[in-house]
Amino acid sequence: MIKIGIAGKGGVGKTTLSALVILTLLRSGKKPILAVDADSNSNLNEMLGISRPEDLVSVVDKIEKMKGSLPAGMDKVQYLEFKLRDAISENKGFDILLMGRTEGPGCYCYANNLLRDILDKLEKNYSFIIMDSEAGFEHISRRTSRNFDILFIVSLSDKTSLRSAERIYQMSKEIDLNIKQSYLVLNEFRKISSQQNTSSFFLNPFFTLPFDEEILNRSYEGKGIMDISEESIAYKTVKENLLSLLSD
Ligand SMILES: Nc1ncnc2c1ncn2[C@@H]1O[C@H](COP(=O)(O)OP(=O)(O)OP(=O)(O)O)[C@@H](O)[C@H]1O
Ligand SMILES: [Mg+2]
Repeated sequence: MIKIGIAGKGGVGKTTLSALVILTLLRSGKKPILAVDADSNSNLNEMLGISRPEDLVSVVDKIEKMKGSLPAGMDKVQYLEFKLRDAISENKGFDILLMGRTEGPGCYCYANNLLRDILDKLEKNYSFIIMDSEAGFEHISRRTSRNFDILFIVSLSDKTSLRSAERIYQMSKEIDLNIKQSYLVLNEFRKISSQQNTSSFFLNPFFTLPFDEEILNRSYEGKGIMDISEESIAYKTVKENLLSLLSD
């Protein structure tokens, strides 16, 4: 199993890159795939052109409210596992899991711990797990997920966005996550005229995601990218780089 996390500041293209990674894997027959949307304000499902599944935190909440009315012979954890399998929507060649909001006025430690345990179990069924995250990589600091083979940190080329990317990189090291390899991906979506001096990067950029008009138009139309052409420049770039990385 190979687990890939995608992180970065808000609006830098995390979900776009996640969807392109999933599409590349699908079209290359690298399955089974689990897409995990760890952004509570998520739209990965939209980019993948599918309806929004029920999120895991809502499932946990509902079960908590059921109190004594669980089906006979099932304890809370068993029932939860059963319901969570329902919440994984099976789609065109991949599964998707929505985490939901794990922070709020109450304590979500219980939900977080459960999610972590269940993810650990589920992961064994897949060859690839792709986790799109919310801005700032909050769930990483709460350690809902601990092990990644690959972490793509997405950034635009401006200083603020790069600083944020660097903070995420440092945080991932400080909290002692098990990340085998981190990569910086620069998104040219909003091109910044002053070019960065490569020596100032905290990690050498792995690749640059070019601006792709087709992706932007699809996003405006709420269309998703699953049937994007092989000629899409952003898709081609992700495909080339990801496949070469996986073949190493
Ligand atoms: N390389 C690109 N070419 C064209 N459009 C892009 C590119 N990268 C991102 N976009 C567009 O920018 C917008 C924001 O991208 P996206 O949703 O992937 O960012 P995000 O980092 O996931 O945002 P959030 O932090 O809100 O989750 C989308 O409309 C997307 O289509
Ligand atoms: Mg996003």
